[in-house]
Amino acid sequence: MRIVGIAGSLRSGSFNAALLRAALEECPPGAILEIESIRGIPLYDGDVEAAQGIPARAAELKDKVAAADALLLVTPEYNNSIPGTFKNAIDWMTRPVADIPRVFKGRPVGLIGASPGNFGTVLSQSAWLPVLRTLGMRPWFGQLLYVGSAGKVFDASGKLTDAAIRQRLRNYMEGFVAFVSADAGTIS
Ligand SMILES: Cc1cc2nc3c(=O)[nH]c(=O)nc-3n(C[C@H](O)[C@H](O)[C@H](O)COP(=O)(O)O)c2cc1C
Repeated sequence: MRIVGIAGSLRSGSFNAALLRAALEECPPGAILEIESIRGIPLYDGDVEAAQGIPARAAELKDKVAAADALLLVTPEYNNSIPGTFKNAIDWMTRPVADIPRVFKGRPVGLIGASPGNFGTVLSQSAWLPVLRTLGMRPWFGQLLYVGSAGKVFDASGKLTDAAIRQRLRNYMEGFVAFVSADAGTIS
């Protein structure tokens, strides 16, 4: 089983990229988590799309997701919602509309995130839900993982040092992989 994980931050010290790396460490045997990022995707511009088509990096990410069994979104939170940078990347990946079934429809998707605040991306994770519904994805709702106080649970090198959060991440990955396994073959 292959899962593509995308962290929605460009910051070199990103807590969300660190959380994605920790998810790889806690991914159960038999599943492969491919670490991806939103780097290299320009701002969406309909004129660019009309003249040049889809940017190469967005097309590459689309193909990776289309070839995978599932998608894991690791989302920061900006102003109680989805960071524009992350949404922009997904927006490019939904073009052209005719490709949405190939890339997104019916595909299992997990959603986790980290922030330095107390609420750990509760609102940005909720803000993703209408997007996932629009794309016809199959979100896993079996567990919630909101990593708050991120400055305390990762060390300076971005390693997840909080044992309780690591256990919850392990549980999340085990549950998500089980969901994706049960879902195998149902992607339309
Ligand atoms: C424009 C902006 C708005 C933010 N708004 C929120 C917010 O609403 N809630 C929150 O928990 N953190 C907020 N933050 C703080 C981010 O959670 C923090 O910068 C975090 O480190 C971003 O994720 P990253 O570490 O993966 O880059 C905001 C940061 C920025 C730059």
